[in-house]
Amino acid sequence: MSALADRPADPVVGLRAAHESAALHVTGAAMYTDDLAARDHGVLTAWPVQSTNAHARVAVDVAPAYEVPGVVRVLTAADVPGLNDAGIKHDEPLFPSEAMFLGHALVWVLGETPEAARLGAAAVRVEYEPLPSLITVRDAIAAESYQGIARTVARGDAAAALADAPRVFTGVTEFGGQEHFYLETQASYAIRDSEGQYFVQCSTQHPSETQEIVAHVLGVPSNEVTVQQLRMGGGFGGKEMQPHGLAAIAALGAKLTGRPVRLRLNRTQDLTMTGKRHPFHIEWRAGFSEDGFIQALEATLTADGGWSLDLSEPVLGRALCHLDNAYWIPNVHAHGRIAKTNKTSQTAFRGFGGPQGVFLIEDILGRVAPELGIEAATLREQNFYRPGQATPYGQTVKDAERMPRIWTELKAESDFDARRAEIAAFNAAHEDRKRALAITPIKFGISFNFAAFNQAGALVHVYKDGSVLINHGGTEMGQGLHTKMLQVAATALGLELHQVRLAPTRTDKVPNTSATAASSGADLNGGAVKNACEQIRERMAKVAGRLLGVDERDVRFSGGVVTGLGNREQRLSFAEVAEAAYLQRVQLWAAGYYRTEGLHWNPDVMQGSPFKYFAYGAAASEVEVDGFTGAYRVRRVDIVHDVGDSLSPMLDIGQIEGAYVQGVGWLTLEELRWDESDGPARGRLLTQSASTYKLPSFSEMPEVFNVRLFEDAREEGAVYGSKAVGEPPFMLAFSAREALREAVAAFGPGGRAVELASPATPEAVYWAVEAARAAGAPAEAVAQTDASRELVGAD
Ligand code: MTE
Ligand code: MOS
Repeated sequence: MSALADRPADPVVGLRAAHESAALHVTGAAMYTDDLAARDHGVLTAWPVQSTNAHARVAVDVAPAYEVPGVVRVLTAADVPGLNDAGIKHDEPLFPSEAMFLGHALVWVLGETPEAARLGAAAVRVEYEPLPSLITVRDAIAAESYQGIARTVARGDAAAALADAPRVFTGVTEFGGQEHFYLETQASYAIRDSEGQYFVQCSTQHPSETQEIVAHVLGVPSNEVTVQQLRMGGGFGGKEMQPHGLAAIAALGAKLTGRPVRLRLNRTQDLTMTGKRHPFHIEWRAGFSEDGFIQALEATLTADGGWSLDLSEPVLGRALCHLDNAYWIPNVHAHGRIAKTNKTSQTAFRGFGGPQGVFLIEDILGRVAPELGIEAATLREQNFYRPGQATPYGQTVKDAERMPRIWTELKAESDFDARRAEIAAFNAAHEDRKRALAITPIKFGISFNFAAFNQAGALVHVYKDGSVLINHGGTEMGQGLHTKMLQVAATALGLELHQVRLAPTRTDKVPNTSATAASSGADLNGGAVKNACEQIRERMAKVAGRLLGVDERDVRFSGGVVTGLGNREQRLSFAEVAEAAYLQRVQLWAAGYYRTEGLHWNPDVMQGSPFKYFAYGAAASEVEVDGFTGAYRVRRVDIVHDVGDSLSPMLDIGQIEGAYVQGVGWLTLEELRWDESDGPARGRLLTQSASTYKLPSFSEMPEVFNVRLFEDAREEGAVYGSKAVGEPPFMLAFSAREALREAVAAFGPGGRAVELASPATPEAVYWAVEAARAAGAPAEAVAQTDASRELVGAD
C-alpha cells in the first residue's frame, strides 16, 4: 500500500462515532453472556463450594449435596477426562486437593435452579487439615516464599554510581492491589451440540486461550471447542486469564449431564475467587547529582502474586520495563521477584505492571524533590529522556521530543504557574485547608512483551447486496474496539459507517488469537481488518475499472460510491460493483492478517526492543485537603494525551477520562484488606462488597476535567496513524497522588520528604498531615501526637 492509499480522501476513522452499542447500553437491551444463558429453559446452574480456610488439605464429601432437591450433579476432580488444571502454567488445579486461599473453589454443584445449586453447595461437607499460611507480601519475603522466574533489568554500574552520587536516598515503597469491579462478573455458558462439539459463550478477553483450556480439561482437541464472545461489561485485564477455568467447569458440566450449563459468579464470589492487581513491596536506593539529575537506581521489587502464577511473570516484566517512566536513568539495577501468598491469584489489570513500575520512580521523585530543594515539576522535567537515549532495557525512545512538547502545552493550557502562585497564597491564608497542583508525565510501551502475541486475524465478507460483515479476533469490553474496527473497515472499503456490521468474536471464525489486552486491540485487529478489506477492494477495483472504463488504479471508493478518475459521468454504488463482482466470480470475502514488525526481546537478559512505539501524556491535577479529617477533593484536572491520529476521538477521550479516574481509584480510594489475624478468618478478604470497597463514583469526579488529544501526532506504521489508548492514561492519575503529597507538605515546615501510604485514603492522608504538622511543631507537641496515634491504634 502506498502512503497515499493509507490516507484516504474521506476517512470514517477520525470521526466522532458513538459506541456501536451505545443505544443498546442505555436502553438496557445489550445482551451479556449470562443474559443469553437465562433465555435457555433447560439450563443448569453451577455453584462453587469455597474453602473457608486460607491453606489446608481438604477432604470433600459430596454425598449430602445429592439429598438436596434439584441437585443434578457435583463436579469433582474424578470427573476430569483431561488435565485437572485451569491455567497455562499448570499450577492451578481446577479441583484442588489443597485449598490455597480462603475462597478457593473446591468442587462445583450443578442444580436445576440457582437456589438448588446454592443449597447443594452448602450441603457439601469439607474436612480441612490446616497448613501454615502467608497473607502479606512481607510474610512471604520473610519466609522466602517465591514462585516463577525472577528477572533483572540492568544498565551501567548502579552500585558504583551510587557510591559516587552526591545525594543518595533510600526507601521502601509499598502499595496495594486493586479489584477490577467490572460491572459484569465472570460468566460462562456451555452447550454440547448434537455432534458432540462444545460451544461456550464466555465473558473473556482471550477467547482462544479459553478454548485451549476448555479443550485440555476435557481432553479434546481445540477443533471440538468453539468459544464465542459477544461483549463484556468490563474486563480491565480481569478477564484475560481468570475466565478459563470457569468456562471449563461449565463445559465439563455440559459434557457430563448433556445439558447446557450456566456459571455466573455473584459479586462476593467474584471478589473472593478471582485475581486482582498485584500489590508490590519495593526497596530502593536512588542517587542524584546536587542539581537533581538522576544518576542511579537500585531496586528490589516484590510482586505479591497470590497462590499461583497466572500472569505474574509478564506483569513483573512490564513493571521492570516501566520503572524509568519518562526519565533517563543512566545506571540501573532492578531485580524483580514474585511472592507466593495464600490469596487470590493476582492477574492483569489495566497497565499490566506498568503502573507498578511507574509508581516507584514517581514516588521517589515526589519524595526527594523537597530534600533536593527543587520543585517536583522541575525535577521531573529536567530528567526527561532526550532524543536518541535508550531505556534501561535497551530500546531507543522513539519520539522522545513529544514528552517535553506535551508538558509545555499542558503547563500553558492548565495555567500552571499562575495557579501555583494562587495556591501558595491560598495556603498561606488557610491553616486547615491546603491545596496543591501537581503535574506528572507518562511514557508507556505499546505491544506485548511476548513477541508472538503481536499478531491478529480478521474475516471480512462483502455480500452481493454490498453490505459488509466483519469479524476479528479482538473482544469488546466497553473500550470501543468494535466501533473502531467498523470505522477501519468503512474507511478501507470506502463506505459509510452504517454499511458495515460486525459479528461476535468466535474462535471458529478467527483462530489462534491473542488476548485483547496490552491496549493493542485496535493496532493488531485494525491491521488485520484493514488487510482483509484491502484485498477485497483491490479485487473490486478491477471489476469497477472495467465497468468505468478506467485503469483499476484510478478507481476510488468513497462514501459508498465507486468512481473512476477521468470518468466524470459514471458513478457506481458499492452494491453495484459487488453484484458485478459476484457474477464475474470474483471472491468477495477475505481473511486478513497482521503482525507487528521490528520487535525483538530476550526475556532472559531483559534486553531488546519489545515495543512498537510509546504513548505519551501528561496530567495536571489540583486537590484540596482538609486538615481535620484528611478528606480531599480533586478540584481540577487537565490532560494532554497522545493517541496518534485518533481512530475515534470521542471514544479515545472516554478512555482517557475513564482510565484517569480508575487510576485515581487505585491510588487514593480502593483498599483491599485481608484478615491477617491468626483467628479462624485468617486470609479472608474483608472488603468483599461495594459497601466496604470504595470505588470512584460520581461524587469523586474532578470538578473541572479537561482532556485534549495531542495534535499532529500521526504514528507511522500503526493503523491509519493511530496509537493505542486503553491503558496509558491510567497512569496520569499519579498527578493526583503527587498533588496530595504536596498538599500534605503544605501543612508542615517544607523542605521535608512526605511519605504517603497507598492508597492515599483520607485516613492515610490524615496521618501524613499529622506527621507533617508534627515536623513543624515543638518537641513536646510531637510526643502528644504520637500518643494520640497509639491510642486509636493506627499505623
Ligand atoms: N475500557 C472499558 N470501558 N472497559 C474495559 O474493560 N479495559 C482496559 C482498556 N479500556 C477496559 C477499557 C484494558 S486493561 C485494556 S488492555 C484495553 O482497554 C483493551 O482494549 P484495547 O486493546 O482495544 O484498547
Ligand atoms: Mo489489559 S490489563 O492488558 O487487559
